[in-house]
Amino acid sequence: MIKEKTISQSDQNIEGLRKAGNIVAKVLWEMINALKPGMTTMKLDEIAGKYLHKFNANSAPRLEGFPGNTCISVNEIIAHGIPNKRILRCGDKINIDVSAEHNGYFGDVAYTVILGEQGHRTNKLLDCAKRATLTAVKMSIAGTPVNQIAQAIENEARNDGYTIIKNLCSHGVGKSLHAFPHNIINYYDPDETLVLEAGMVIAWEPYLSTCAIRALEADDEWNLTTHNHSEVAQFEHTVLVTDDKPEILTII
Ligand code: CO
Ligand code: CO
Repeated sequence: MIKEKTISQSDQNIEGLRKAGNIVAKVLWEMINALKPGMTTMKLDEIAGKYLHKFNANSAPRLEGFPGNTCISVNEIIAHGIPNKRILRCGDKINIDVSAEHNGYFGDVAYTVILGEQGHRTNKLLDCAKRATLTAVKMSIAGTPVNQIAQAIENEARNDGYTIIKNLCSHGVGKSLHAFPHNIINYYDPDETLVLEAGMVIAWEPYLSTCAIRALEADDEWNLTTHNHSEVAQFEHTVLVTDDKPEILTII
């Protein structure tokens, strides 16, 4: 069996991944800045389409047959929400996940907000989910065991009384959206023996919940929900692992 490797840490590859990460971050923030009550998720997704085109990037979900440029998941839909005619209202919890390809390289970023009349709000769950992702990002240094990071994510959730959705994983990113290392679980597993190496590119995206531990398929082939509609929040960043400090690629 050939051991699957992370993509080579050539200057060209790193530059390509930086550019792709920068593009998805820019598109995400154009969408968040445009968000307002009364708009449909389809309208919000059109903004993504416009900017992806402007930046010469291709929507990664579309490459996989998803009917939208981005995943926009509202309230009881926790992931892979299909942009549609749903009208956004004050108090809605909205997760926007932008992933795209540019010149053969991918970037992946996501953010959750609660829609307000004037500006967006956050809450304790959202704050904790953001902290969990940033904790994983900060620990992404060569030599760190992945299960140590997963344990830190789990501790962030537990300390605030939240659960981890166990069947949604973080993942490597490279010349495809889901690359080596695949299916990184976001909770401690003693059998996980992977140790981070310089050059690995990881999209950390733990899903935290008020009480659910599994994502379930909703009534179509994409939308994911939970069994009891418990609240869920997720933040995602793509990060480059180096020997000394992690580099977040999905920044503006
Ligand atoms: Co991802
Ligand atoms: Co994503």
